[in-house]
Amino acid sequence: MDLCEQSPSYVRAIAPYQPGKPISELAREMGLKEKKIIKLASNENPLGVSPKAKSAIKKAIAELGRYPDGNAFELRAALAKRYQVPEDCIVVGNGSNDLLEMAAAVFLSPGCSAVYSQHCFAVYPLATQARGARSIVVPAKHYGHDLEAMLAAIAPDTRVVFIANPNNPTGTFVPGAELEAFIERAPREVAVVVDEAYTDYLPRELRYDSVSWLKKYPNFILTRTFSKIYGLAGLRVGFGLMQPGVAELLNRVRQPFNVNSLALAAAAAALEDRKFVAKSTRMNRAGMVKLERALKTLGLETLPSCANFVTFRVSRAGTVYGRLLRQGVIVRPLAGYDMPDHLRVTVGTPKENQTFLKALRAALDDD
Ligand SMILES: Cc1ncc(COP(=O)(O)O)c(C=O)c1O
Repeated sequence: MDLCEQSPSYVRAIAPYQPGKPISELAREMGLKEKKIIKLASNENPLGVSPKAKSAIKKAIAELGRYPDGNAFELRAALAKRYQVPEDCIVVGNGSNDLLEMAAAVFLSPGCSAVYSQHCFAVYPLATQARGARSIVVPAKHYGHDLEAMLAAIAPDTRVVFIANPNNPTGTFVPGAELEAFIERAPREVAVVVDEAYTDYLPRELRYDSVSWLKKYPNFILTRTFSKIYGLAGLRVGFGLMQPGVAELLNRVRQPFNVNSLALAAAAAALEDRKFVAKSTRMNRAGMVKLERALKTLGLETLPSCANFVTFRVSRAGTVYGRLLRQGVIVRPLAGYDMPDHLRVTVGTPKENQTFLKALRAALDDD
């Protein structure tokens, strides 16, 4: 018998994550110049890295010969101050993806189940399957989370519920009060992981104080990232907030040096760069309005988005995706998210949005 067949069948059954196509890959495939390509496929910040983070990275380079601080002392202190939570409630991760994996490693195993929604972020099924746990996928309601149905779907063997708010790839949003009511009603022996990767893009009137729920709900785990509004996707850094006992468990499965030293320094600096965050929010809002309007004018139905991307329905989405690629524009096809008739586009700079819309018009005109 060969070695690969010794791997548990649930590992061999995993469908690998499909990332947005990298610029360098498209350049090679199409013979295009990298500078001519725009990538609106992975919900990154089109403004790039915050200036404060950039100078922190430059300083941290001098110490790259040393291991990073495995306890992330400075970053955790900065986060504790920002969110007014004790430091032992904070776990840092190699991206918030790492936190999702840690939560799965701590609570899931063969014989357990995880509940999540149809059209959810791709890492929830991956993290669940990698532990040999069963997935309970709850049909979405208007492409968003159906919290009532998710609550009803919790089985005696369920140990984790994953909820992204706003959700990726749909951009849909659940009001804070409804989310809190869900956590309140969920059994205490089930970890409710609320993934707020896009929370910084919420308009003021939709914001809610999930951090304050930490004190009330021992089974609540909140994850956030520096990959989106803070512009540090390439460095991989995120964090989770949870009660100390849960944090202690996550730290047991966490790799000792899971966040590298450049990421630690950059994240602490980015947290203080409020000007950059405000500029990013403004640009996103203006770009979103423009994209939504233009897509509607083209007769394309959009899903209401509270994040930094718009998902729209288009017939023959795969063909349109290919035609955009040939023009040097990378968006995200969503067939792998059970949405074969949709494409997702990240809000870019005004120029990138214009280029995308021009390419899309040409792609649709090709019929
Ligand atoms: C909903 C959601 N959660 C988590 C992540 C992971 O982000 P990161 O690992 O870069 O923090 C993403 C990235 O796209 C996301 O869309």
